[in-house]
Parts: sequence; C-alpha cells; structure tokens
Amino acid sequence: MYHKVENKFPKNFLWGASTSAYQVEGAYNKDGKGASVQDTKVLPEGTADFKVSSDHYHHYKEDIALFAEMGFKTYRFSISWTRIIPNGTGEVNEKGIEFYNNLIDELKKYNIEPLVTMYHFDLPDVLQQRGGWSNRETVDAFVEYARVIFENFGDRVKYWLTINEQNMMILHGAAIGTVNEGCEDIQKELYQQNHHMMLAQAMTMKLCHKMVEDGKIGPAPNISAIYPASPKPEDVLAAQNFNAIRNWLYLDMAVYGRYNAIAWSYMKEKGIEPKIEDGDMEILKGGDPDFIAFNYYSTATVKESKIDDSEGKFIGGDQQIATGDLGVFNGAHNDFLEKTEFGWEIDPVGFRTTLREIYGRYNLPLIVTENGLGAYDNLEDGDTINDDYRIDYLRKHIEQAKLAITDGVELLGYCPWSAIDLISTHQGFKKRYGFIYVNRDEFDLKDLRRIRKKSFFWYKNVIKSNGEEI
Ligand code: BG6
Repeated sequence: MYHKVENKFPKNFLWGASTSAYQVEGAYNKDGKGASVQDTKVLPEGTADFKVSSDHYHHYKEDIALFAEMGFKTYRFSISWTRIIPNGTGEVNEKGIEFYNNLIDELKKYNIEPLVTMYHFDLPDVLQQRGGWSNRETVDAFVEYARVIFENFGDRVKYWLTINEQNMMILHGAAIGTVNEGCEDIQKELYQQNHHMMLAQAMTMKLCHKMVEDGKIGPAPNISAIYPASPKPEDVLAAQNFNAIRNWLYLDMAVYGRYNAIAWSYMKEKGIEPKIEDGDMEILKGGDPDFIAFNYYSTATVKESKIDDSEGKFIGGDQQIATGDLGVFNGAHNDFLEKTEFGWEIDPVGFRTTLREIYGRYNLPLIVTENGLGAYDNLEDGDTINDDYRIDYLRKHIEQAKLAITDGVELLGYCPWSAIDLISTHQGFKKRYGFIYVNRDEFDLKDLRRIRKKSFFWYKNVIKSNGEEI
C-alpha cells in the first residue's frame, strides 16, 4: 500500500538498543555468580567463550554514558539468573542484586527506561543438571526467580520481557547452546520443555501484574513472516505449516492461552505433543501480556516437503536459516533477497509485513527488541569504523517501520541488536552488531577500549530527529 503522507514516529517512541547478560557482561564467576548453560556448553570451534565477553560488568557506567550520548530512550538488557540465584533455586546473591540496582540507577540517571529480559538463553547449570526445562520443577524455580527480581527492581523497572526467543530454543537450541541433543527423542523432549516454559511465562506475567505497580510485560520471540517459494498451493500450505510451528504456536499461547491448531496437529502427527496436566490450560489462559516484543532479522521462504523427500530432515540451521522438516516444509532460497556476510537474508520490506501480520493477528502494541546486521567490522586508522553497511541495513528497516506505523500498526519502540559489540550466540566476537566497537578479538582481549562507530553518530541523529532524519 502506498501512502500519500507518512505518519511520524510517536512522540514518546522508545528508541534504544539491546544486549543480553551472558553475551555482554563477562565476569562469569565474579561476586558469587553461578554457572549458566552458556558457561558450560561446548563452544563451536574457533569462537570465544563468555568469560569476559565485552566486560560490561566492569564498564557499565562508561557504556551507559555512551548510550546516553546516543540519546537512548530505553535500553534492553537481560538479568543473569545465576547472578541473582547462583544455583537456580535457594539463596539469593546480594552482590548480584547490587549490580543490577547500580545498573538500573545509572540508566535512570540519564532518563533511560530499562526494558528487562528476565531470561535470555542462560539457564542455571544446576537446573540443567536436573533436567532443565524438561523437569517441571524448573517452572517453580523460574517463578521464584521472577518474584525476587520483581521485588527488588519493580519499583524502577516497568517494562518486562519474559523469555527471549523461546521458539529458537525449541527449534535451534543446538546452535544456540541451550539444548543437549543427546537424548532419545529430542523433539518430544523439546515440546515438553516448551510447554513448561509457556506455563512459567503465563505465571510470571500474572505475577508481574500483581507485584509491579504499573508494570507491563510481554513475550519476546523471534518472529519472521514466511513466504511460500511459489504460488503452488502445496508451497503455500508448507508456508502455513512453518508459520504455525515457528511463529503462531508461541504467540497464540502467550496471548490467547491456547495451542495453535496446526502446530498441535503437527505435534500429534509426530507423537511429540506435550503432556498437559490438569489445570495447565487454565494457567496458560491467565497470562495476559500488555504488548508483544519480538526480534526480527529476516523472513523465511519455504516450499513443499513430500514425505519421501530426501532433503527434508529437520537438521542444522540457526535462528534465521530454516532447513526443513520432513513432510512439513523445506527451506528455500529467495532470489529477491541479498544476504549478510554470515548468510542471513536481508528483507526490510518483510519487516513491515511481519509488523502488520503480528499486529493484525493480536491487536496488541508491539516493541521491536532486536534487529540488526552481524558483520566483520574493520578498525581503521584514527580509531574509525566505517560501518556504512550497518547504517544501510538499519535505515531501510526504520523506513519500513515508519510505513508499518502509517499502515496502522501500534509500535512502541525499536531496539536494534546490539547497543555495543558482544559475542554472537555461535559465531564468536568477530560477528559484530554494535554501535560501539569493543577493542578485542576472538581470543586476544587487547584493551577492551570502547570506540564509536560511524553508525553511532548516525543513530544519534536518528533518535534526535525522532526518526525524521535517517
Ligand atoms: C537472537 C538472539 O537470536 O539473535 C541474540 O536473541 C543473538 O542473543 C542475535 O545474538 C543474533 O544472533 P547471532 O547468532 O548472530 O548472535
């Protein structure tokens, strides 16, 4: 749809950017922090571990001053569960509470609204040893952790996100390092975990409304519009299949408290549907999110997978690369899209499509909690980083967000990934996303100096002009 006049970004639009605890903080065992699954996972060869990351734990004041210089209205970060409760349950670590109190106060000093993810891929390792999310007791552990953080930070944190990319932990946990593929029927296990996470999410949303005055909370999945590879009816069905198991399973549950019918029939067909206990569906209905937060990097294109298809096994891939699932869908190439250096398709128009689709389905305000370009940045003479490719990516996505707003989508904020360089989920430090360069390599920590990239100055002006000058 073409518009004669485009709407402006709303006056109080939440411009900001995002990080997650294990990818940015470092200090992996400092001041009483317990190990998370990210500290104990087997790392892909040639990639840095998360011991130091960007050392934000020790540099948070300097980093937040730089965020303020860019004019951030909000900053999305995650709380490390094992900094707060080192063993997943039981004793609370006061030093962990102190760190986040200081961080939140520092943000408040600059009028930056904290947007807090409760759990971003870093389950306490002690809980993982007891079965992780397959063990129903992890639901209670999460709710207890939620109670502690609402109680300690709820006076200043009003925007909460429950679980980052639950859908990617189920579909691509092996790449992210949240799942051990060793067990017998990994998919059955995963959909049981998914059910438990859904319960945990619904219970914490309810708890947030009870404990946090004026608190707002929502889910934070990774959502991509799905294109059929052609108008062939079977390809369209394949796109519907993937849509159901990648996107709507998660959002239908978060918003309506019900299993998406196509996703349920997929699980039934494969014999991987979760065990639902008495009272679960009632709990799931009680969630009631205030908004939907979502991460967007690109769209996905799929085609039919016949049941005797040799390519259609659900293997490999990562958050943005859909491989296939026998008899359900097959990942396909999209000739209309370019790719990043790391093979992810770039689709700004698909961003508008995704925004419209989510808003049309759920009619809740939206917040974009990730969007960005992972690239090899080059530190040039005079401490400059000319990341025009990143500016180009973000500019095109912001343009489309503006069009989506003109289309009628209620968009509250935009937080690209990432505020500052950090370690990628499975591709190390060399895959950079930040507006701020951190001077370290994969294995050489150098001086961890912070350097403003060209995109830093560009984004500063975007925010200053409330999205008018991009
Ligand atoms: C999302 C995650 O999947 O994408 C982030 O929420 C992640 O944690 C980001 O870093 C980019 O992915 P990657 O694999 O390039 O780090």
